[in-house]
Amino acid sequence: MSSSSATNQNTHSFNLTSLRIDILTVLPRLLESPFADSILKRAIDKGIVEVGIHDIRAYSKDKHQKVDDYAFGGGAGMVMTIQPIHDCIDALKAEHEYDEIIYMTPDGEQLNQQISNELSMKKNIMILCGHYKGVDQRVRDHLVTREISIGDYVLSGGELAAAVLSDSIIRLIPGVLNDETSALSDSFQDDLLAPPVYTRPADYKGWSVPDILKSGNLKKIEDWRFEQSLSRTKERRPDLYERGKKG
Ligand code: ADE
Repeated sequence: MSSSSATNQNTHSFNLTSLRIDILTVLPRLLESPFADSILKRAIDKGIVEVGIHDIRAYSKDKHQKVDDYAFGGGAGMVMTIQPIHDCIDALKAEHEYDEIIYMTPDGEQLNQQISNELSMKKNIMILCGHYKGVDQRVRDHLVTREISIGDYVLSGGELAAAVLSDSIIRLIPGVLNDETSALSDSFQDDLLAPPVYTRPADYKGWSVPDILKSGNLKKIEDWRFEQSLSRTKERRPDLYERGKKG
């Protein structure tokens, strides 16, 4: 996969692009499919978002294009070296001014809706995916501006985490979702979980849809949904519920 292969090449003349995300990885193929379908693909096709996938290995000056080495001090596992990452970052910085250079790592700040909202308003974001035992600490100290985790578990690499982060950001950008209000009514936007939803048939083998949703009374439906959101949040995420009450 060539670098920038997920980028919409037709967008430049219209200057529609709200956000550019450049992802640095040693496994570019892992990032092909998340951007090749559904909402993310549409956002790229519409020119609202540009996504560049960059193979760190292509920047390695090692004759075997190595991107990792043994850890100083010993121990199992390889560490990603500085040089290819630094050169890749510098090449991109020569093209764009980045608001954030984010390193995906389980010891970063934990992703939440507020972080995604904030990042969705940026112009250029770079995301670095780690592998093996991670990147040389000096990359984190001198090149990265922010570190994000998608949860308290360890993935084999940062690629899936980068896809999760990108998805959560891109869907918030105006024009990406057909119904502009639907991102606002997502769970977590106001510290509340979303209410239950139903579609046809109204009765499936005796499993029926709550009558209120078929009443046509929009005010009552809105009140019911709000009540459902509140009780769901209280039951499933008491931490959010308490925060919402205070906020
Ligand atoms: N890389 C490996 N595990 C991760 C996680 N939980 N979040 C972000 N990046 C990661």
